[in-house]
Amino acid sequence: MLFVLGGELLQRDTSHEASYSASDPRIRGELQSQALVKAFLLSGLFFLLLPGTFLGVWNLVGISGKRALAALSPAWLQAHGQAQIYGWIGSFILGIGFYSLTKMQKTRAFPERAGWAAWSLWTVGVTLRWVGGVTAWEWRWLLPASGVLQLAGFLFFFNAVSRHRPAERRSSMEPWMVLVIASTVVFLLALVFNAGALIQLALTGASPALPHVFDQQLVTLAVWGILVRTIWGFNARWLPIFAGFRKPDPKWLFTAYGVSLAGVLLVFVNEWKISSAAFVVSAVLAILALHVWSPAAQPAKVQGIHPSFPGFLRIAYGWLTISAFMACAAAAEDRSGGLWGASRHALTVGFAATMVFAIGQRVLPAFSGMRVLWSPFLMFWSLALLNLGCLLRVSMEPLAYELNRAAVWRLLPVSAVIELVAVTIFVANLMGTLLTRPAHLRHSASSTPKIGGVV
Ligand code: HEM
Repeated sequence: MLFVLGGELLQRDTSHEASYSASDPRIRGELQSQALVKAFLLSGLFFLLLPGTFLGVWNLVGISGKRALAALSPAWLQAHGQAQIYGWIGSFILGIGFYSLTKMQKTRAFPERAGWAAWSLWTVGVTLRWVGGVTAWEWRWLLPASGVLQLAGFLFFFNAVSRHRPAERRSSMEPWMVLVIASTVVFLLALVFNAGALIQLALTGASPALPHVFDQQLVTLAVWGILVRTIWGFNARWLPIFAGFRKPDPKWLFTAYGVSLAGVLLVFVNEWKISSAAFVVSAVLAILALHVWSPAAQPAKVQGIHPSFPGFLRIAYGWLTISAFMACAAAAEDRSGGLWGASRHALTVGFAATMVFAIGQRVLPAFSGMRVLWSPFLMFWSLALLNLGCLLRVSMEPLAYELNRAAVWRLLPVSAVIELVAVTIFVANLMGTLLTRPAHLRHSASSTPKIGGVV
């Protein structure tokens, strides 16, 4: 359904391109990149809603019904996590990455073929990973194929980014660019690990689930290695522009980055306690470096979006800190997965999803044709309900899983349903936005079309 609607959206926008494309190659590149970013957005939203959140809610209902995390198939848990991290946020990162190429190197043509090859391979790869994990049908073929396809899709992206080097030399590159490039390299490494692990699983495993400890190591690599640090990179660029925060302090930001990298490496030698402590330090350093909780230097740009936008950015960093402290508690005390689960949820939903909901609704309408967000009111409710659901889940999960309190087990699914509503509102708001007319169609054919956005 989402893809059918997506197809219609893409067609609708590109049908009017002809009048601009012949005259100006720069505009043609801009329109090509907008079409691609929209494809990544639509597939990302699909993975977020159905394979990601719907399966997450289903999993939590199953766990609550049987009152034990171990009661549920690990392959299902892993399929959910993969759909969220790679299917949703990964697709958004690739889409924004391709879009930003048009801004980084204005003299080169937009790599349209590479972009669509990346989108196709990536989307099929993520889909196969989910189908193989959930159905276990032909998983010995589907899972390794998914790993290889995702890696191949990413390589098209990586190659295009490497060719479109920014005009500045490395020494004069802005800190946010260095962070985003470094996170992209970690992204590539994570996909190499992922593909290798799935091939190994297909050859020697007994089910479509990776062994627990190895899976948790890969999840930490994906979450702290890719999501958190890519968000820091884009935050360094966008928070001063859109939220009015003071300019980041590069020295502290790079230190935060280095400490978090050490934290990721430590989990691969099973030093979970030291690694969690490193994540606490890096989270605090990042907050100081990005001036998240300091008074803003100038008013936030909230025209067309909900004015609570900077407030939710600050709350997201609260979740990051809570997650890191809970990971310390989990490394010391967790018996049944409740503290680890709460810590991970604080990070993935509280930090990463809040950040994507807030910044996404601020920048993505502009990236996909200088559109205006459909509803600031819905933006507020998507963020408010997401955080309410997250608060319930993070506070109740340790009580349920670790202490087995009956009343809390009954309440846990409520948190999941609230988050599902939040996600649905977010998806509806972005879809509603994409259904509005882009700027180049809002202007008369004679006037110069306004098509770009800040990257
Ligand atoms: C929005 C509603 C969500 C619900 C109801 C949900 C539910 C769950 C559940 C029940 C688990 C099993 C472990 C546990 O009990 O804690 C889990 C694991 C996980 N979730 Fe979610 N989740 C949601 C959103 C997200 C998001 C937005 C992300 C990432 C951006 C995410 C990433 C993960 C990961 C990586 C795992 C671990 C998978 C593994 O062990 O391999 N989840 N989630």
